[in-house]
Amino acid sequence: MSNLLKINVPPVKPYFPEEDKEWVAGKIKEMLSTGMLTLGALGKEFEKEFAAFVGTQYAVAVNSGTSSIEIPLRILDVAGKDVLVPTNTFFATAAAVVHAQANPVFVDMNPETFAVSPELLEKRLTPKTAGVVLVHIAGLISYQTEEIADWCKKKGLWLFEDAAHAHGSKLNGKHAGTFGIAGSFSFYPTKVMTSGEGGMIVTNDKRIYDEAQLYRDQGKTSFLTNTHGKMGYNWRLSEPHAAIGLAQIRRLKEILAKRDAIGSFYNAELSNCEFGRILKVPEGSFSNYYKYIFIPNKMNDRAGFKKGFKEKTGVSLTGEVYEMPLHKQPVFAAWSAGTFPAADDLCARHICLPIFPSMTMDEAKHVVASLKEAFYG
Ligand SMILES: Cc1ncc(COP(=O)(O)O)c(C=O)c1O
Repeated sequence: MSNLLKINVPPVKPYFPEEDKEWVAGKIKEMLSTGMLTLGALGKEFEKEFAAFVGTQYAVAVNSGTSSIEIPLRILDVAGKDVLVPTNTFFATAAAVVHAQANPVFVDMNPETFAVSPELLEKRLTPKTAGVVLVHIAGLISYQTEEIADWCKKKGLWLFEDAAHAHGSKLNGKHAGTFGIAGSFSFYPTKVMTSGEGGMIVTNDKRIYDEAQLYRDQGKTSFLTNTHGKMGYNWRLSEPHAAIGLAQIRRLKEILAKRDAIGSFYNAELSNCEFGRILKVPEGSFSNYYKYIFIPNKMNDRAGFKKGFKEKTGVSLTGEVYEMPLHKQPVFAAWSAGTFPAADDLCARHICLPIFPSMTMDEAKHVVASLKEAFYG
């Protein structure tokens, strides 16, 4: 008979200390008086601080993670070409490719990294391939990233990083978003840092920087003219969103340290267990643990397992990354040809443990004890 207590542990929680709430409220009050509500000083400051954080020359703030992918793809002139995209990613990665009028070509995943590998990319290369979108699933930068960048160079392709999961993640001291021509981030509320809604393009490429600013503002040749030179859209980030984003980028180091404490504890407790495995963070690298992935050896009915686990232990497991690979999504049926055995297996089998900055060590211990009890019985 188990003597495990039931303790409610939520899947995720936002992190806004009181002083940050007050600071954001003050900024919103100010902008309501001045009327500077979009493309203003706070957006510029947010871009400056984000670029400094990841170590790129430029950053362009936009209204979503999705537009932070589509805009660079449009600048890279992908229309009519093929773009290699992981099948294990969020809808928006491939949707941005389709909206930029290119064809997504899905690539299976390396079970060790949940990302694509050079061998898998090679298998899916076509004569029309223009580039690769790499996604750092769960905030883990694959140990093969430099190899993927070299493979792209050898083939004459660009590498773009969808770093929606990877704020602050590093491989050998290099930040997510800095391995290719440009990178994108999402500030959706469940992400490691948020602006409510929002996204950021980072790059060292001056042309991408200049053109991204035009695309996000209806393709206008400048803020104050009504001449439209590009097929842009309203992809602007509003100043209230920028204020939230600024408060969060200033907290990011603290957020990462708190997440790291929980992630490191899970690593120590679960790296040698008999009932499953974790995703290993490469030596000398840093994961923001956007999601903490655990892969049980067996998982036949994940929805049923999650429901029973919550009822018995109080622990809410978070959403998967991802439950259904893109080649199985009805909307991508036209691009679904091929076999994707690793994604078919692992998307259905993994679970994600709760992790958030204000999580206590007692809560983390309860998660691990509950997991051991569930699998050892
Ligand atoms: C991998 C990935 N790419 C793109 C996006 C899109 O970001 P957003 O929801 O901010 O448009 C998300 C987030 O939801 C994501 O997880």
